[in-house]
Amino acid sequence: MFKRFLISFLLVSATLCHASQKEKRVISVLPTPVSIIEQPGDFTLKNGLTIGVSDASLLPAGTYLQSLIRQVVRSTVKVGKGDISLQLVGQENMPNGLSMKKEGAYQLNVDKKGITVNASSYAGIISAISTIRQLLPAEIEQAKAKSKGVVFSLPAVKIEDAPRLAWRGLMMDASRHFWSKEEVKHVLDMMTLYKLNKFHWHLTDDQGWRMEVKKYPLLTEKGAWRKLNAHDRECINRAAKEDNTDFLLPTEKLKIEKGDTLYGGYYTQQDIKEIVSYATQRGIEVIPEVDMPGHFLAAISQYPDVACTGLTGWGNTFSSPICPGKDAALNFCKDIYKEVFELFPSTFVHLGGDEVEKTNWKKCADCQKRMKDEKLHSEDELQAWFVRDMEKFFNENGKRLIGWDEVGEDGLSKDAVIMWWRSWNPTAVPHATKAGMQVIESPNKYCYFDYQQDKNTLKQILGYDPLSNDLSAEQQRLVMGVQANVWAEWIPSMKRWEYMVFPRIMALSEIAWAEPAAKLNETEFYRAIIPQLKRLDILGVNYRIPDLRGFHNVNAFVNEKILSIECPIPGTEIRYTTDGSIPTKKSLLYQGDLKVTESTTFRIRTFRPDGTPCDVVQTYFKKTPYAEADLQAKPTANGLQATWYDFRGNRCANITTAPINGTYKVDAVSIPEGVKGNIGLVLKGYLNIPADGVYTFALFSDDGSTLTLDGDLFLNNDGAHSPAEVIAQKALKKGLHPMEVRYFDHNGGMLEMYLLNERGEKQVLPKEWLLH
Ligand code: ACM
Ligand code: ZN
Repeated sequence: MFKRFLISFLLVSATLCHASQKEKRVISVLPTPVSIIEQPGDFTLKNGLTIGVSDASLLPAGTYLQSLIRQVVRSTVKVGKGDISLQLVGQENMPNGLSMKKEGAYQLNVDKKGITVNASSYAGIISAISTIRQLLPAEIEQAKAKSKGVVFSLPAVKIEDAPRLAWRGLMMDASRHFWSKEEVKHVLDMMTLYKLNKFHWHLTDDQGWRMEVKKYPLLTEKGAWRKLNAHDRECINRAAKEDNTDFLLPTEKLKIEKGDTLYGGYYTQQDIKEIVSYATQRGIEVIPEVDMPGHFLAAISQYPDVACTGLTGWGNTFSSPICPGKDAALNFCKDIYKEVFELFPSTFVHLGGDEVEKTNWKKCADCQKRMKDEKLHSEDELQAWFVRDMEKFFNENGKRLIGWDEVGEDGLSKDAVIMWWRSWNPTAVPHATKAGMQVIESPNKYCYFDYQQDKNTLKQILGYDPLSNDLSAEQQRLVMGVQANVWAEWIPSMKRWEYMVFPRIMALSEIAWAEPAAKLNETEFYRAIIPQLKRLDILGVNYRIPDLRGFHNVNAFVNEKILSIECPIPGTEIRYTTDGSIPTKKSLLYQGDLKVTESTTFRIRTFRPDGTPCDVVQTYFKKTPYAEADLQAKPTANGLQATWYDFRGNRCANITTAPINGTYKVDAVSIPEGVKGNIGLVLKGYLNIPADGVYTFALFSDDGSTLTLDGDLFLNNDGAHSPAEVIAQKALKKGLHPMEVRYFDHNGGMLEMYLLNERGEKQVLPKEWLLH
């Protein structure tokens, strides 16, 4: 039975079954199970409850379940049957054939007498425990005293469930900001709740080394600590500018040494063992990454001999790689990995391999000699040689190498796994799978959770199918799964981390777990997260309340306009100001439609039930007459005139100072074919408006873009940033309006302009509107 039927059935039956209870209960299990059949009755937790496991290997799972309900009942865990029985069964005894054989599949039966879980793997038992947790009232997450009057029962159900994809990952960047052991454990707890099973731990990078390596103690003694860098200072500035303490660097990660304030921390090998064990109990595999040969400055700063030029100087922002020309440098890398292999039981280990800056290799005699000896024709081939050498070492030690998609063409064996991150490199997955390699998909466009969120974010994740990409059935089998990556340059605290990750991680878990026919659409998803957010409230998770609707960045009107705000989460407290100040708990409460008759800037902020605020959003209501058309204009052709500048900066205004690479004609606001690398683009022409009216335009880009219309900077999406959309309205007279779009990017990029209709739906900008 698939979800569309299931949702309505559940909502109705939950209402009937629990009509006698004080509060009606709506069942929400995320990610969506394959099948769920509710039955009459429920099972109530009571003191003295027994958790029975069929096999001693499940005792950690039993103890984990016990810890989840400890707040409300006393229980014991034993081998044998119990009120709750967790049973490992042979795959042949799992129902429904194939899908139930997947690692993580389970069958859950709740009736008046108790709960039975059948699974053929430890992972399946853990999945079932997460479902049990979500079937219990959210108050299970809080201390007993506060949950008086709540009946801790689960509805009687039969659930059969299995994941679509085996790899459901989350990457935590511990280098840009350090996360304490407790914070990592919290993340693991939250991953399990949403059935994510691979914790990719980015332990090293230019900005800090986080793993104790016994052979090279300076890596953490010194390399784990830095003077505040530009990102840190920007975070501190944002804390003040946005009235948001979540941007402050946690004081427990600061220390004063010889008069300097240092920031950082690291994991001892004992800490790592503890975290791996904690994760294993929760069905999560920990995949370490020690990124090399690039992103290696934290190591090189302490051991300069492994670099080409003996680079020294902490705080140097230039990301220098190791020197693959020196045997000692190769041994250094392998020594580090020897310790990694001993600490992490996972077969998969991530080598990194991304964004290697190879300028030093060109100048280095050792690198050039290596290239000659090994008959390598370029620095790219030198990188491939290094990665292949490391893979051999990994394999000799029983490990399989994962690398970012830069290593996809490096001639690795079929045992290597490619992690796709560059959305602008769409052939990465087809190529790797054609070559017989497995892949994990984490395209930055959908899976980079450090990117800012907007009203399209959840829809875009839900709409992304990791098994599309024009893959054959055989290639699809090589897609292990998907992963969210949370780079931490601008995420200094766990509170900010939570804000960036929740609830979008639920959308990722949905696409990773649910089969397409069962997967929630956007509307269903918004409904399904309401009870989840209540659970997060009790857990104290600083989630982001999804976007308010009913306004754009700029809202034009000629006489008056109504500000009518919609919030997808009912009951959300919304406050606003009109004097430019940041809204606080004392600001005006939004209580319904507001009539606007003068140009007004609204700053709006939502508050979670515990009183903590989300980020400020700003919207400008602009009273304006219709802009006159240019009656002198005499365009001669369709489309826009495009000029490509060799631009390396990050402000649209400066693009035309760069040398010109070429000129083109485009029939849409887009990047012309063949324009790549350093892009500074200027598109010029006229917008041919068919009738007087207020029009809504959107400019979507990665990185920055601007639209000047009738000489006004009308859509401002400028600056270096991840994919982002700006929407504004303008009152326009029929006729020709001069327009200029500017855009820049240095690595692939995206540029799109479109119209929105009155319902806010995206419309293609008609080609015939563009002239030059
Ligand atoms: C990456 O984002 N450099 C993998
Ligand atoms: Zn070198």
